[in-house]
Amino acid sequence: MNDSDHAERPARVAVIYYSATGHVHALAKAVGDGARDAGAEVRLRPVEELASEMLISQNQAWGRHRSEVIDEPTARVEDLDWADGIAFGTPTRFGNVAAQLKMFMDQAGVLWQQGKLINKVATAFTSSQTVHGGQESTILALNNTLYHWGAIVLPLGYTVSEVFGGGGNPYGASYTSGTRVGALDEETIAVAMAQGRRLARVSQVIGVAQEQGLLDVRQALSTRAEAGSR
Ligand SMILES: Cc1cc2nc3c(=O)[nH]c(=O)nc-3n(C[C@H](O)[C@H](O)[C@H](O)COP(=O)(O)O)c2cc1C
Repeated sequence: MNDSDHAERPARVAVIYYSATGHVHALAKAVGDGARDAGAEVRLRPVEELASEMLISQNQAWGRHRSEVIDEPTARVEDLDWADGIAFGTPTRFGNVAAQLKMFMDQAGVLWQQGKLINKVATAFTSSQTVHGGQESTILALNNTLYHWGAIVLPLGYTVSEVFGGGGNPYGASYTSGTRVGALDEETIAVAMAQGRRLARVSQVIGVAQEQGLLDVRQALSTRAEAGSR
């Protein structure tokens, strides 16, 4: 492979999320659309559901969304290995990451051990009921895992003007769903798409640099081998 081949390869972006009633699902689709707009190859993947089907069916909105996505391929740890960039989406759960997504991230220990998560570009987005219900704390809690991975954590920042209208949250696209289940507003969609585009562009640069050996992964790996495994 020569230099021009590296430049040609599209960035690989995995959008991995959990959604019970559909809001994070809508955000995830917008992040994926944005990444595709920027030329990335995208895998949009919900993580596996952990709650019982009985429990889900007792909640109308949860049951409806479950039936809409039940046949979609779910995220696999291999998707993390494949991707240059990863966007993680979770509903805010008591100011924290949903257990379903956390369980998926906790399965990445094998890749961590092999140093394969180092230099992944990673970003996060969320949906909560209330504007002060913990959107930032959820994204920051999710990012803790990314620091351990040695990922390159990519914040949204105020990189597009729509951020000021669409929640105003520079940590990552964040939707405030309120008490009703419904469609996202246009500004939030625009913000989520912008986050996807930004992820794709940065992932393209980092993916190429990684393949060209410009980032010192090897050194990190040998140090890890000396330290033993988890
Ligand atoms: C167990 C549980 C905990 C929640 N905790 C919070 C919270 O801390 N703050 C908040 O604003 N909303 C909270 N919510 C509401 C969800 O975050 C909100 O409805 C979100 O938009 C759901 O996203 P989804 O439609 O993708 O499932 C909670 C919901 C559940 C079921």
